[in-house]
Amino acid sequence: MKILIFNTPEEAAARVAAQITTTVQQNPEARLGLATGGTMPPVYCHLVQAHERGEVSFARAVSFNLDEYVGLAPTHPCSYHSFMQAELFGQTDFAPQNTHLPHGDAPDPTAESLRYEALIADQGGVDLQLLGIGPNGHIGFNEPSSSLASRTRVKTLTQATLQANRPYFDHGEKPPQYAITMGIGTILEARAVVLLATGAGKAQVVAEMIEGPLSAACPASSLQMHPQVTVVLDQAAAAALKHRAYYHTVHPEGREDAA
Ligand code: F6R
Repeated sequence: MKILIFNTPEEAAARVAAQITTTVQQNPEARLGLATGGTMPPVYCHLVQAHERGEVSFARAVSFNLDEYVGLAPTHPCSYHSFMQAELFGQTDFAPQNTHLPHGDAPDPTAESLRYEALIADQGGVDLQLLGIGPNGHIGFNEPSSSLASRTRVKTLTQATLQANRPYFDHGEKPPQYAITMGIGTILEARAVVLLATGAGKAQVVAEMIEGPLSAACPASSLQMHPQVTVVLDQAAAAALKHRAYYHTVHPEGREDAA
């Protein structure tokens, strides 16, 4: 794992956005795996700005989001479709037919999961997968105990995840209990992965992911098995790492030129 620790969350988000931009500049038809959640808007803001400056076009890029709530139509304001439209797709030149998310309102969510998994494979897989991490170690909505070989499927969300996502729903409206998510096996097939975690609330789980045992108890620890993972952190999210000094030696303040 390449572990980059930046002084601020802003610098960390900029580093992640730069990797996405470079990937698309090098291959305008790149297939991007995208994520939602509170950590991602600063990344998408950088992508929008790079697009506005004329540095990158997403017109031929293809995207696959990690997950969507079961029962929410794409037009629902709390759906991940709506999130992506507001934060990225609606502000750049992504072609609507090239942006993919699971359909949360599909009549048969299991059949929809199989369709989504097959679609990713048919399009040649994901070149760069963007990830966040849940405080319980989930990636996508692969909650603790998820098979490390799992494929896209319906998952029941934990109470902790429901609690964390409640603020995104209107007062009185409960977050759905189920989601369609890429599996851990699906995620691990991406050619490269970049995971962003910021803030003190992620410090403990980041240490488990990087330095803990490989275990379904912390689904993100499965990334230890992937040969091309970059973990991008701010100081607060890196605070519980035992080998922090070593990571700083290899990449001082997140710099990659020294290695
Ligand atoms: C979102 C997703 C989740 C989030 C994770 C962190 O598409 O797959 O795994 O990345 O829950 O969420 P935030 O960024 O809100 O802490």
